[in-house]
Amino acid sequence: MKDDKTRIWYGGDYNPDQWPEEVWADDIRLMTRAGVNMVSVGIFSWARIEPSEGVFDFGWLDRVIDMLGSAGIAVDLATATASPPMWLTQAHPEVLWKDYRGDTCWPGARQHWRPTSRVFLRYALDLCRAMAEHYKDNDYIVSWHVNNEYGCHNRFDYSDDAMYAFQRWCERRYSTIGALNDAWGTSFWSQGLNDFSQIIPPRFIGDGNFINPGLLLDFKRFSSDALKEFYKAERDVLAEITPGRPLTTNFMVSASGTGLDYDDWADEVDFVSNDHYFTPGSGHLDELAYSSSLVDGISRKQPWFLMEHSTGAVNWRPINYRKQPGQLVRDSLAHLAMGADAICYFQWRQSRAGAEKFHTSMVPHAGENSQDFRDVCELGADLQRLSDEGLTGTRLVKSRVAVVFDWQSEWASEHTATPTQQVRHWTEPLDWFTALADNGITPDVVPLREHWESYEAVVLPSVYLLSAQDSRRVRDYVSGGGRLFVTYYTGISDENDHVWLGGYPGSISDVVGVRSEEFAPMGSDFDGVMDHLRLTNGTVAHDLADWITSVSETTRILAAYEADPWTGMNGVPAITVNDFGRGRAAYVGCRLGREGLAASLPSMLDAMGLDMSAQGASADVLHVERCDESDQRHFDFYFNRGHGIATVQPLGDVVVASLARMRAPGGPVSIDPNGVVVVKRP
Ligand code: GAL
Repeated sequence: MKDDKTRIWYGGDYNPDQWPEEVWADDIRLMTRAGVNMVSVGIFSWARIEPSEGVFDFGWLDRVIDMLGSAGIAVDLATATASPPMWLTQAHPEVLWKDYRGDTCWPGARQHWRPTSRVFLRYALDLCRAMAEHYKDNDYIVSWHVNNEYGCHNRFDYSDDAMYAFQRWCERRYSTIGALNDAWGTSFWSQGLNDFSQIIPPRFIGDGNFINPGLLLDFKRFSSDALKEFYKAERDVLAEITPGRPLTTNFMVSASGTGLDYDDWADEVDFVSNDHYFTPGSGHLDELAYSSSLVDGISRKQPWFLMEHSTGAVNWRPINYRKQPGQLVRDSLAHLAMGADAICYFQWRQSRAGAEKFHTSMVPHAGENSQDFRDVCELGADLQRLSDEGLTGTRLVKSRVAVVFDWQSEWASEHTATPTQQVRHWTEPLDWFTALADNGITPDVVPLREHWESYEAVVLPSVYLLSAQDSRRVRDYVSGGGRLFVTYYTGISDENDHVWLGGYPGSISDVVGVRSEEFAPMGSDFDGVMDHLRLTNGTVAHDLADWITSVSETTRILAAYEADPWTGMNGVPAITVNDFGRGRAAYVGCRLGREGLAASLPSMLDAMGLDMSAQGASADVLHVERCDESDQRHFDFYFNRGHGIATVQPLGDVVVASLARMRAPGGPVSIDPNGVVVVKRP
């Protein structure tokens, strides 16, 4: 296969085994017409490739790979290990995973295997070996697609295999049972353990009961690691037989679906790839941009693959909304803007049968004479133009502002015995991303482990867990001149979920200059309880506020609560700014939501001494830039975020316009809702 480094990969999951071979030629014809240059093959084909134990049938796969390759379409070949065949699970029911009540997950769908089963691992590695041996010299295959979306359905397994593996994992992490007892706080409720063999996964404990938070948090860590070990075993077999062929596995980064610790996983792949499915409604573009930015953060600004998204409706929500006109092209270009160098879909041709027959695809049930296929062709042409103009090799330009996301804080905040079940980590970073965009600023989303200290301004949004080391990083960042925004529910506990004492946020209260003694949750589940709090700056808080009882001498109060005196919240500081060392820290002591944050941001930015006007965009436009290291090639992407017509003044040539028009050469460009323009600077 000609390795043309300037192309943008374009294609999707291709499941030829669902169709008679006569259809394949038509597939290739349509792929060529759409500009498709890469497809992922074999993801769920185990039963077809190995119809009975040790008997392999590569004939059909050879034929289709050959047809694709001869037409110039590269193959991202799956290991096919995601969905075990019936002969395997019939012979070895002990590979099926169990839920927390001990019920078996039976075959009938996919991913019905337990990550810690040695038996299953052996079969999976045998298949990887057979695939790698058979295809090691096939030049049409440009990468390995290892397994598929690890943990999508089998993230938590409570079987005995899992239990023994969890015991070993705990032993590696803590060395002594004393250290584990300490970390899990087992002196509470008589939970002390005498040795590692007494550890059991967080199985059924009775409805309405509360599991040990340390145990639960470690089980989530273990489950991410167990799947990662499985991935590494598959990867290592492939890498040994086909050294040099790049490997990836598709992650599932999206704002609400935290799943595995993908920042940790990212160290183990040759290139990061992600599957992203849109959030219907008003959060569509912002959530997409947020998630893509986080993917860019975990791939450390190296180009990454968008391995799956949808041309339109999915089939797995209770109501599967269609995309609006323009969104098919716009969504893909938004992922591209945020750093993707490949745009792929689930899937190429819409299935006639099976559980995903109502999931939209590049070639829909309606066939090639359809709006979706026309859009797919338009997108193919856009991507070709962008690659001709030199987009490949450019990177998402680093923002001045970073919003931090932390998997561990999300996992810990999911516990059911917290101040309020309405508050978890993940909503706050997304609200900040959106509120910053409302102020014309497109921030980067970066994992806590990343060097967020290199940004001029950083947001720590409900980062519930802060270890002593991370607290030190926070302190050093601000004292060294950084501008830090911190919210409620940040720095509450250390990495073992032991609360920092002395008033919240215990480990960094000197940095933010506030001390809160109690949480003030809000709700409407009882008559007469507080369900919101008004702030003196006109915004409104919901769900949670801190009862801030003192501020340091260097702290200025930007907004306080206006409440009835008897609530105890009247006049309590809500938003503050503190001078600390050479830097400043703003504290937002309540949940303001996107609107409240957006409205509060101008005065906060001002108080922090941050002038962001040069960021350029307005609330109705999302502006994203990509450029190469020497800034020879610089692209501006402008997306209409609103429902009216947005206008931008391009700083160069418009190379792609979707639902957008230039009024006169060199003049402003009008962008319709769901529209986008890409401009190349001279
Ligand atoms: C992904 C999966 C695909 C397909 C898709 C549908 O989770 O990897 O195989 O099921 O979702 O949205």
